[in-house]
Amino acid sequence: MAELLVIEGLTKRFRGLVANNDVSFALAAGELRCIIGPNGAGKTTFISMISGHVVPTSGRILFKSRDITKLPVHLRARIGIGRKFQTPTVFDNLSVYENIELAVLATPTPSRGRHARIMRTLDLVRLAEQSDRMVGALAHGQRQWLEIGILLAGEAQLLLLDEPTAGMTAEETHSTGELLRRLVRELELSAIIIEHDINFIRDLKAPVTVLHLGRVLVEGSFADIERNEQVRSVYLGNA
Ligand SMILES: Nc1ncnc2c1ncn2[C@@H]1O[C@H](COP(=O)(O)OP(=O)(O)OP(=O)(O)O)[C@@H](O)[C@H]1O
Ligand SMILES: [Mg+2]
Repeated sequence: MAELLVIEGLTKRFRGLVANNDVSFALAAGELRCIIGPNGAGKTTFISMISGHVVPTSGRILFKSRDITKLPVHLRARIGIGRKFQTPTVFDNLSVYENIELAVLATPTPSRGRHARIMRTLDLVRLAEQSDRMVGALAHGQRQWLEIGILLAGEAQLLLLDEPTAGMTAEETHSTGELLRRLVRELELSAIIIEHDINFIRDLKAPVTVLHLGRVLVEGSFADIERNEQVRSVYLGNA
């Protein structure tokens, strides 16, 4: 698989604090990757540098072989980098359909193709039956899936998801895992998922990168990570 994203020696200092320290990382096209680590390890800072919300102190970010280290947020979104925050950024007083429509309108999709694209997106995130509902009336899980749909409608190829299952029921969490695996399989999307829910991570069956004190502590399969003594002592032992 070709590398979609390559990170070289990324460092972020906030005054005296080193939030990311010489992080190198690669993600293939069509790859799902989990990022775990203790609170304050630098996980959110890491994906904020990929989305452009935080400017690195040093290091490089390459997306499809292009150096995007200094590219502003909206231009990164346009080339396929979609960021989901913990609190969904959806319009409560519009319908599910209209929320997706707004995202499609921001793409070059010709007007005759828009409706089909909206419906296809709603199908992908299993919200077609909720199409006419006001977003304010959706369940917590459905709102999160809508936001993933908005990223898809905006033609994201790389999804950056910060704790997507926070606050979800066990059933919603399970459905979210299925949704992400399906998207990667059917659309060949790539995703970086920050999570604390160990059962969810295990079920994703994706490679895991462990961050600790701003550095990559170890990378590997979940089974490898779970057995790793260092990971157990800094994170899993008290998870
Ligand atoms: N804008 C900022 N200004 C100053 N310090 C910051 C800023 N953003 C993050 N930090 C600090 O950088 C470190 C890494 O924070 P970050 O939010 O990336 O961690 P995290 O791994 O996402 O943690 P959590 O699991 O709690 O979400 C922390 O010590 C945090 O306080
Ligand atoms: Mg965080």
